Amino acid sequence: MLTINLEVIQLTLHVLAATIWVGGQIVLAALVGPLRKVAPAAIAPAARTFAWVGWPAFAVLVLTGGWMLSGAGGQSDAWQTTLMIKLLLVLVSGIGAALHTLLKNPALRGISAAIGLGSALAVVLLGVLLVEG
Ligand code: HEM
Repeated sequence: MLTINLEVIQLTLHVLAATIWVGGQIVLAALVGPLRKVAPAAIAPAARTFAWVGWPAFAVLVLTGGWMLSGAGGQSDAWQTTLMIKLLLVLVSGIGAALHTLLKNPALRGISAAIGLGSALAVVLLGVLLVEG
């Protein structure tokens, strides 16, 4: 069998946290429509419960990402540019999700959620590019 080393542990934690942050948002977005029909009062508690899992996952992403970078070196310019764009989108993803919870206007809440989730999906693509490159 192949060896499980520290790099594998780091990337596993990073990917696990990404599945929670990104996948959780997708599942929550999919549940909102049906919940609105049968149990509208359940939407806010469901979103608050997700926040308790989602934000720690976001913190794990930043920590494990920084941990992986501390051991990285000698990467190409293209790799570093990809990383910079990824980090910018991580910021947009975090700000989008935070605005979504803080704003009261329904239209602005929808826009910020879409920006947050859209940028998180782009971050996943760039993350896979980083591993490939
Ligand atoms: C919303 C936040 C984030 C998401 C969704 C995310 C997602 C991902 C994904 C899906 C991968 C590819 C895993 C694979 O293909 O096995 C990856 C790789 C990577 N991520 Fe992130 N990430 C996030 C935040 C960060 C942050 C904040 C940093 C740096 C501080 C970072 C640094 C890295 C690095 C260096 C790799 C490549 C690791 C390698 O080449 O072995 N990520 N990320």
